[in-house]
Amino acid sequence: MPDRDGPDAAPRLLPDLAATGALAAAVAALARPGDVILLDGPFGAGKTAFARAFLRAASGDPALDVPSPSFTLVQSYDTRIGRVHHFDLWRLNGPAALTELGWDEAQTDIVLAEWPERLGALRPPGALEIRLRLLAGEARHAVLSGGPERMASLRTGRPA
Ligand SMILES: Nc1ncnc2c1ncn2[C@@H]1O[C@H](COP(=O)(O)OP(=O)(O)O)[C@@H](O)[C@H]1O
Ligand SMILES: [Mg+2]
Repeated sequence: MPDRDGPDAAPRLLPDLAATGALAAAVAALARPGDVILLDGPFGAGKTAFARAFLRAASGDPALDVPSPSFTLVQSYDTRIGRVHHFDLWRLNGPAALTELGWDEAQTDIVLAEWPERLGALRPPGALEIRLRLLAGEARHAVLSGGPERMASLRTGRPA
C-alpha cells in the first residue's frame, strides 16, 4: 500500500505557467474553510503564481489582482469558497509576529502560505504541502503531500 502522503506521491511536471494555474484551480475546486495549503520552494518557483491562480479560480475572476504579499506578509480575499488568507512568511520575525498577523484566526478560513519553513513548531499538522521546484526554463516540478483525504487524487495525480 502506498503511504498516502509519503515519498511515493507522484511528482507532477508543470511544463509552463498555465499548467501551474491548472493545478492551483484543481486544488481550489476541492478546498474548504479550515484547509491550510503550504507552498514550499525557492524564489521564482511559482508559489505566488500558484496562489494567484488559486485565488482567481476561487473568486471566479480571472483578472483578480493578486500581488505578492512579501511586504504586507498577508493579504485576505473574499471568494466564492470563503475567505482566503495568502501569507508570505519570508520576512516573518518569529512566532509572536505570526500571531499578530492573525495566523490563529485565519485557521478557520482557507490559508495559503509561502515559506512554510518559517512556521517552525506552528506548522499545522493537517496541512496540504505543495513543494515546487525549478526545472529548466518554464518547467516546474510539484510534489503534493499531506492534507485531507479528499485531496488524495491531487497528491497521486490519479483521478478520484
Ligand atoms: N511553470 C511555471 N509555474 C509557475 N511560474 C512560472 C512557470 N513558468 C514560468 N513561471 C514564472 O516564474 C515566476 C514565478 O514567480 P513567483 O510565483 O513570484 O515565485 P515565488 O513566489 O515562488 O518566488 C513568474 O514570473 C512566473 O510567470
Ligand atoms: Mg512569492
